[in-house]
Amino acid sequence: MMETLGRVLVVVPTYNERDNLPMIVERIRTALPEVHVLVADDNSPDGTGEVADGLADGDDHVHVLHREAKQGLGAAYIAGFRWGLREGYDILVEMDADGSHQPEELPKLLEALADGADLAIGSRYVPGGKVVNWPHRRELLSKGANLYTRVMLGLPVRDATAGFRAYRAATLEKVGLSGVESQGYCFQVDLTLRTSRNGLRVVEVPITFVERTVGKSKMSGKVMSEALWRIGLWGVTGLPRRLRAGRDQ
Ligand code: GDD
Ligand code: MN
Repeated sequence: MMETLGRVLVVVPTYNERDNLPMIVERIRTALPEVHVLVADDNSPDGTGEVADGLADGDDHVHVLHREAKQGLGAAYIAGFRWGLREGYDILVEMDADGSHQPEELPKLLEALADGADLAIGSRYVPGGKVVNWPHRRELLSKGANLYTRVMLGLPVRDATAGFRAYRAATLEKVGLSGVESQGYCFQVDLTLRTSRNGLRVVEVPITFVERTVGKSKMSGKVMSEALWRIGLWGVTGLPRRLRAGRDQ
């Protein structure tokens, strides 16, 4: 399968993940020895960037992108994707550093691409998908965000905020990254919407999301309010298009 897909880059954004990073890199490298890893670190005060440099020193499949300051998950992914496209990777994967996304499940996402998907989403909310160890309020937040997204945008996706994904390079090139303004976690919804609106094939693959045991989530009020207003805005500006599409059916 890997031969038909080409070169794969897993982009791992980090902010204060010193105690998680060696574990996740090791798991990725063991599960899929051919793939390359790019750590996109926002100058973490806990020294994650130096830990990443240490991992890259001993392994030519590990790379580090040092960014100046904390600019959000979306901004880190855009920079990581640009790096990967420039370096000629064929597949770009998103994965959290904290172990919530299991590298051992990555082959399922790559298989979906090999079967013709343009974007494969590791989904918690399709049959077979699961979340382990989330507090009740976090589950409500995530389900609420997905419901809000579905009502506002009408996307045919159960888990549009999911952060475990595999894109074909061609998908990112067609969608274009230069117009993406989302800084925080709404980046995930933003790219799902852009991919779907470009007529590309989005496939959800069931995964098990395991809540982190080390370190803290970077979810914040700022991340939530950005998602709320941006998704609302996309809903309003996309309405004429949805109405037209409905009439043409
Ligand atoms: N470089 C960088 N800059 N990395 C960041 C930033 C940032 O500003 N904010 C978060 N990260 C990194 C974290 O270090 C971690 O590796 C990953 O992004 C996910 O962050 P978490 O804070 O652990 O996210 P979560 O567990 O609350 O949220 C998960 O679920 C969301 C919604 O369901 C993630 O999978 C999100 O991607 C997803 O949207
Ligand atoms: Mn997490």
